[in-house]
Amino acid sequence: MNTRELREAAAEHLVRNGLLADVVPAAQGPILARAEGSLIWDTEGKEYLDFNSGQMCSTLGHNHPAVTRAIRAGLGELTHASSVYYNVPQVELARRLAGTLDAPLKRTLFIQSGADSNEAAMLFARRATGRSGIAAFHLSFHGYTDVTRAVSYCAAGPGYGPSIPDVYAIPTPYAYRAPLASEDPEWWRPLLGMGFELLDRECPGNLAGVIVEPLVSAGGVIEMPDGYLAALLEEVRARGALLIFDEAQTGLGKLGTMYAYQQEGVVPDIITLSKHFGGGLAVSAMVTSDEIEERAIAGGLSFGHSHSSDPIACTAGSASLDVIEAEDVPARARRISAYWQERVRALQQRFEIIGDVRGRGILQGIELVRDRRGKAPAKEEAQAVYRHALREGMIFSVRGQHGNVMRFVPPFGTTEAQLDRALDILEGGLEAAHRR
Ligand SMILES: Cc1ncc(COP(=O)(O)O)c(C=O)c1O
Repeated sequence: MNTRELREAAAEHLVRNGLLADVVPAAQGPILARAEGSLIWDTEGKEYLDFNSGQMCSTLGHNHPAVTRAIRAGLGELTHASSVYYNVPQVELARRLAGTLDAPLKRTLFIQSGADSNEAAMLFARRATGRSGIAAFHLSFHGYTDVTRAVSYCAAGPGYGPSIPDVYAIPTPYAYRAPLASEDPEWWRPLLGMGFELLDRECPGNLAGVIVEPLVSAGGVIEMPDGYLAALLEEVRARGALLIFDEAQTGLGKLGTMYAYQQEGVVPDIITLSKHFGGGLAVSAMVTSDEIEERAIAGGLSFGHSHSSDPIACTAGSASLDVIEAEDVPARARRISAYWQERVRALQQRFEIIGDVRGRGILQGIELVRDRRGKAPAKEEAQAVYRHALREGMIFSVRGQHGNVMRFVPPFGTTEAQLDRALDILEGGLEAAHRR
């Protein structure tokens, strides 16, 4: 089919996804045809720098040759097996993954998506503690299933029916906009204290777990203040609950270390991984300790999706761990971050509209504001920069509570020349937004 025919067929037969609906909805965007590394092409042959890494699942680079080779080889052996019985790639991946994590994280459940893995984590926390309360940041995003939507407060909206019960929000320590933020490096302590005081009233003695991202991505690329996660762990432990880190966006090298929790010196009770874990194929993981697994399974929990632990997905997972190790992607993430931030901070000197520059590794954010004093969110300007970039051949995303945070997630293999090209496009977009 040519582009016109594809557009007509899409308009006729696809369910619209509602994503980026007010910026550039799918019907007006490119129809993607092929990709390689940090680049993706549409059906017209137009090239885009993919600074969203697909849906952040291709950060190893689109069609990474090592992952592609492993998948091709695996397809001849065992594509799908059984959710009940173990298969070879599944066991090998579990052992391999455990070797990358810190004790006591060593037992893995493989599923397909980030949402699945977070649902499993919440279920295991509930079963292991015998309680039902789950708390998450008020700017959290953990997935679009009904259970994870209930704890995805940054994507909250009407019309989805009743939420699952026993879920609660605690304040995100968002230094740029927190009401209690000050020069005191521990400004976040009263915010954390207040959050738990509320929880103690709202679900007394019934907190099973707290699920957070170690760097809040969709909520606006919000970094945790120093010491916050360690203090959070103390509060959680004091209540006999479990700490769950959703490392969909931060794990496997993205922030410059294998896992983000390692930068904070805080090992969670449960960690979830997804996104580029399968190098582009759908596979996710929930990893926990012997003790929590034992407590959750005792009593006869049964769990499994038809495609849980699919051998081909696990093969892709092992290949992706090989690439992460062989290419030392955490080091690449650190280099990209340094290069990117130096130029973005120079842009911040020039453009008043850049209120804040945040992010680590390959997860970078720029918050746009109408004026730096009042910090009024510059949502339309962020959208205008996005549209400019798409026209010029670059894809990123616009996120955050007010829709004014531009988020960039370039693949680990992105070259300095590609970063420069992206930054030039960004500069052009900011100039245009500035003139508005
Ligand atoms: C932090 C986080 N958790 C979970 C998810 C959901 O993952 P999936 O779309 O694979 O269900 C996302 C998706 O962007 C995410 O950013």
